[in-house]
Formats: sequence, C-alpha cells, structure tokens
Amino acid sequence: MSFTAEWLELRAPADAAARDPALRAAAAEHLGRDGVALDLGCGPGAACRALPEAAGWRLVDADARLLALATARCPGAETVRADLADLAPLPFRDARLVTAFALLDLAGEAWLEALAGRVAAAGAGLYAPLCYDGTIAWDPPLPEDAAIVAAFNAHQRRDKGLGPALGPEAATVMARAMAARGYRVRLAPSPWRLGPQQDALHRSLVAGIAEAAAEAGARGAAGWAQARLAAIGSGCSVGHLDILALPAGASTQSKTTSESRP
Ligand SMILES: C[S@@+](CC[C@H](N)C(=O)[O-])C[C@H]1O[C@@H](n2cnc3c(N)ncnc32)[C@H](O)[C@@H]1O
Repeated sequence: MSFTAEWLELRAPADAAARDPALRAAAAEHLGRDGVALDLGCGPGAACRALPEAAGWRLVDADARLLALATARCPGAETVRADLADLAPLPFRDARLVTAFALLDLAGEAWLEALAGRVAAAGAGLYAPLCYDGTIAWDPPLPEDAAIVAAFNAHQRRDKGLGPALGPEAATVMARAMAARGYRVRLAPSPWRLGPQQDALHRSLVAGIAEAAAEAGARGAAGWAQARLAAIGSGCSVGHLDILALPAGASTQSKTTSESRP
C-alpha cells in the first residue's frame, strides 16, 4: 500500500498535536541517552521528529521517496528499504525501542503476533502511536455519516500487504500480544480534533473516506463528500490509540493518563 509524502506531511501537525505526551515522554525515557530506535514504516520521518532523544535510528520503509525524506530529517540514520511483510531480515538487534507510527491498523493479527515476538526477543520496547480506532464524528453531524464511516471501516480491514488488516481492532490486539509476553502496556487516546485551522487536512480526509467507502460499496459516497465539503468548517474528531509496551524490568518515572493490562 502506498502513501504520498503530501498526505503524510499534511497530517503530520495533527498527528503531533494528537499523540499522548505522557506516553511519548515515557518512550523517550526508555531510550535514555544511548538508545537506538528501529522505526517500521518510517514515512517521511515522523518518529525521528517526535523522539529527537534517540541516539540513533534505523528507518525501514518500502517507499524510496519517503525513505529519502526521512533520511534528510534524520541525519546519520541507517536506512533499510524493505517490505515489512517479512520481519525476519530487519535489524531488531540491539534496538532499545521499536517505533511504528500510524502503522499497526494496516496489519493483520498474524503479523502483529510476529512483530510482538520480534520485539520481545530483542528485549526492546514498542511505541506505536496513532492507531485508528474506528471512530470519526462530525459536529454538526449529517444523517449519512454513520453509514459512510461503517463502509470506510470495512475498507480499512482489507489486506494492505500485511495480512487482512485489523483496522480499528489492531491496537487492542497488539496490546494483548505484548502483555502476553510479560510487557507493561499502556494505551492512551490520541484523537485528531480538526477545526477551521485544519481545512486542508479535513478536505483530504473527506475525499479519502468517500473514495474508500465507495470502493467498499457505500451508496451516495460522492454526494456525502459534497455535503461534507460544503460544511468543511464543522468540527471533526478522528479517534486513535497510542500504545507503549515496555519490558517488565524497564523503569518509567512518568505517570500515565490511562493504563491497560489486557
Ligand atoms: C500511514 S503511513 C505512516 C508513515 C509514518 N510512520 C508517519 O507516521 O508519518 C504508513 C507507512 O508504512 C509504509 N508501509 C506500509 N506497508 C508497508 C510494507 N508492507 N512494507 C514497507 N513499508 C510499508 C508506507 O510506505 C508508509 O510510509
């Protein structure tokens, strides 16, 4: 599945505003002063920007253009152009933290289990913010919103190259997989809250939702998009979850806003 640099750059400020600050701080604390991070699906370098504390980065993506952008943002990073479908050859060795920003909802259960196994075998932590949770709400709402979001969510569950995607369920499945390996797991909400300042992102989001919903068989997706674009100043909230999973022995001083022990 391909993502344009333009879309990822457009969403970057909303992502940065949405990520739970306590989980980010705990991830940075886990890295310490000398921890190396392995970023899966690096895109144009969101993780690198969010965690400047890392002593070094290994960036993995299938897309050469995105890897080049990430490298420019993350001087000295080791880059790996690879398909994440096969985790075996990826450089998990000695990584203190594995990051996967806005990635896990694209993956299926078997892949998430395999990832949990690789992270645990390396003794690394996992920080995976911005997993879409299946909720999108507008204020004021339109009568068609619920049907369009349901069709969009069905599309989210299609195979994106990492097995039949779990979409909205991915975060809780991953949290359980890490807890089963003895990890301390924390989940925190990280919703986008779009207002008039985020019109460009909102427009692009509506177009993407309508396209996916139509592909998933929703009737009237184009009309819905027209009505939504006509009301683009309305508020929109898109639900996400952030996950931080740390090995049981790792210390974190910061308190979390929410905690899960699935
Ligand atoms: C939603 S984007 C997130 C990018 C970045 N982490 C961010 O937060 O901006 C998902 C990223 O994963 C990469 N990706 C998706 N499936 C992949 C696969 N099978 N192998 C390698 N990279 C993949 C895409 O190229 C893209 O950069």
